[in-house]
Amino acid sequence: MSSFPPVDVTIYPYDCDAYGHMNQAAYMLMFERARWDALARGPGQDLFRRHGVWPAVRRATVDFQAPAFPGDVLRVDFEVEKIGGSSLEMRQRATRLRDQATIAELQILFVMIDQAGKPARMPAEVAAAFGGRPTARPGELMRHDVGDVTLAVDARGDGPALLLVHGYPLDHTLWAHQVATLARWRRIAPDLRGAGASDAPAGGYSMASYADDLARLLDRLGVERAVVVGLSMGGYIAFELLRRHRQRVMGLVLVDSRADADGPEQRKGRDDMIELARSKGAAAIAERMVPRLLGRTTQQTQPNVVEQLRDMIGRCPVPGIVGALGAMRDRPDSTPLLPGIDVPTLVVVGAEDELTPPAMSRTMASAIPAATLTTIPGAGHLAPLEAPTAVTRVIAEFLEGLPKP
Ligand code: MLT
Repeated sequence: MSSFPPVDVTIYPYDCDAYGHMNQAAYMLMFERARWDALARGPGQDLFRRHGVWPAVRRATVDFQAPAFPGDVLRVDFEVEKIGGSSLEMRQRATRLRDQATIAELQILFVMIDQAGKPARMPAEVAAAFGGRPTARPGELMRHDVGDVTLAVDARGDGPALLLVHGYPLDHTLWAHQVATLARWRRIAPDLRGAGASDAPAGGYSMASYADDLARLLDRLGVERAVVVGLSMGGYIAFELLRRHRQRVMGLVLVDSRADADGPEQRKGRDDMIELARSKGAAAIAERMVPRLLGRTTQQTQPNVVEQLRDMIGRCPVPGIVGALGAMRDRPDSTPLLPGIDVPTLVVVGAEDELTPPAMSRTMASAIPAATLTTIPGAGHLAPLEAPTAVTRVIAEFLEGLPKP
């Protein structure tokens, strides 16, 4: 996996105009030179040619912030902002070394074209070379096109990959503490289709489509295998990943989840919730769900978490809520899968989880060979949000014990 380290570029007199300032054309050339230098040091300048594609510039905007003069050395850094099925958006920033002044920023959009000049699919190696960079600023989301939707993803760090899959009706911020602190791992926390800042189409929701989205996201990021951490519905999706993309999963953490399918009563409950979401919106879902999702200790002692959860559910798009409810209602029973799970597995449950109570997790863990179970005191169904430090610690211990990939 190649990341793009900054490149230093020296300004020469011939880059400058009659007044001795670097001229406009020279800025474009300087940014271009820096890109080719970075490629030469990383995946190679022939990265595109060896895949039969070429990055055609479709749009470039330079924001000039301060003049540069002959002899200045500019440090150019790179930030990939979006990788699509055939496009790539990148930002380059030039900072003068001697006084750290930002000289200029370039925002540039490329489209991959083939030899006939027609748009071409982004080759996996090219996506990997660019997608390997962690998000530059904490909290900033990258957007990745995974087919019929674009997913917003918080991706940080380097090392073996950890794919953190949120539950319903939530988003990637559920994993904020784990993403911020599980150093030495490449933390990948997407918003699922229909959640957070990801696209929320009117249809196309099922455990299969969620799992396929995630497999394509791993392709985009150049990740072959990941430890999959799934909370509740995220666990149902993890089971689907095992069914459909077995070779991508190198370990499993099931948090406040369950393996069985919905019974008739639960299916009816899903339909009622779909009705409620359609008629009254996300705020009504939040009203109904918050007391069920959080443990009593959290509800009594952590008003900030109650508020955070209300906000998270409130910003969930209604098509995504409706889609997730239908997908959960129709999900297959994963119980038959459990005895065949042969990757290291950790089961985590909040002691006060009423939706998927500890007894259920105990039964699930005992059906998975070599699974271990940890109970988190004082937490309900959303243990990573309610007891973030404790959950991060048990996940970190589990990761430490894994065979090195
Ligand atoms: C979740 O937390 O993902 C959902 O509550 C799971 C469910 O309703 O089955």
